[in-house]
Amino acid sequence: MTNIEITKNILKKEFISKEEIIHLLSITKKDELDILYKKAYNIKKKNVGTDVYFRGIIEFSNICIKNCFYCGIRKDNHKLKRFSMNENEILKSAKWAWESGYGSIVLQSGERTDNNFILFVENILKKIKKISNNELGITISLGEQSIETYKRWFDAGAHRYLIRIESTNQTLYKSLHPNDHDFEKRMKSIKNLRKVGYQVGTGVMIGIPNQTISDLAKDIIFYKENDIDMIGMGPYIPHQDTPMANSFKNFEEIKDKQLELALNMIAVTRIYLKDVNIASTTALQALNSIGREMGLSAGANIIMPNITDTKYREGYQLYDSKPCLDENSTMCRGCLESRIKNIGETIGYNKWGDSPHFIKKNS
Ligand code: 5AD
Ligand code: SF4
Ligand code: FES
Repeated sequence: MTNIEITKNILKKEFISKEEIIHLLSITKKDELDILYKKAYNIKKKNVGTDVYFRGIIEFSNICIKNCFYCGIRKDNHKLKRFSMNENEILKSAKWAWESGYGSIVLQSGERTDNNFILFVENILKKIKKISNNELGITISLGEQSIETYKRWFDAGAHRYLIRIESTNQTLYKSLHPNDHDFEKRMKSIKNLRKVGYQVGTGVMIGIPNQTISDLAKDIIFYKENDIDMIGMGPYIPHQDTPMANSFKNFEEIKDKQLELALNMIAVTRIYLKDVNIASTTALQALNSIGREMGLSAGANIIMPNITDTKYREGYQLYDSKPCLDENSTMCRGCLESRIKNIGETIGYNKWGDSPHFIKKNS
């Protein structure tokens, strides 16, 4: 059998094995990629539809107690000026999202576990619920916290939580983090979030140095085994002021490959998991000006438009070449509306757009 025949055969199956996932992730030829993305798109259409849901993201502080080797806002990046938006600024962004028909927002920041921070977030959550008539859905992405803190924030109004596992290969996980960062603790966080009642989102970085296709296949199987509701994953992109700045000899040269691998991950995750929400992440657009549209065409159904005040955007660059640094929320909305229209999809305004996987489990 030729490679393309093998691909077609795998895509006809209801259940695919790890070896078959590896085959699909390894596809690089244009005609085979077309078949792969088309299949993923059809599965998306059938299971989650072609409404794209907007999650307006407020990146409200770049203060972080952690030191992940890959991340531009790691504690030891002393070149960076640190900021924290105040309550009014955050509420203003949230209100804008609600008035603009975004069904929900994401609050993200660097990691902090001090009491002031926990209380600050708790109050903000309550206030956002109040000013939006309880309508705005709220996802938070605030790292590893105690189960008590997860519960407090859940009770205050957050109902979804994003925490990436980064890589399920523990050796790789270690290579990305200092010794005091702990894979088991990350796993425990995911379990605790589920216990508290959140819709749980996770994901990995794609194209990390020394990561194999088999690692990525295991990441996808991990999503299924852990009954994950939402997936947010994107290509790894070096940041110049981090210990991993020179992870590749010439990143420009491998950019297209990095993007292709990320799109393959989205497509195979859609094919394997079917009814979860999958984000077409901003990092895709750092590699190609139409990267996020490509993500939607490969099976993703969520977009996270940046709704952070423009003046803070420069300070929140986890990787180099992050798009939309000079734009504002209104410009990003217009831009994304036309991009989505161009690929023939619609926007699910004023809807939460919960993960159908989560809804089914709980009905
Ligand atoms: N490239 C791509 N993604 C990154 N993240 C952090 N730094 C980078 C980078 N250099 C991602 C991590 C983290 C999320 C908030 O951002 O996966 O979980
Ligand atoms: Fe902090 Fe998250 Fe960046 Fe790690 S990835 S340094 S926890 S913001
Ligand atoms: Fe921000 Fe296009 S999404 S300018």
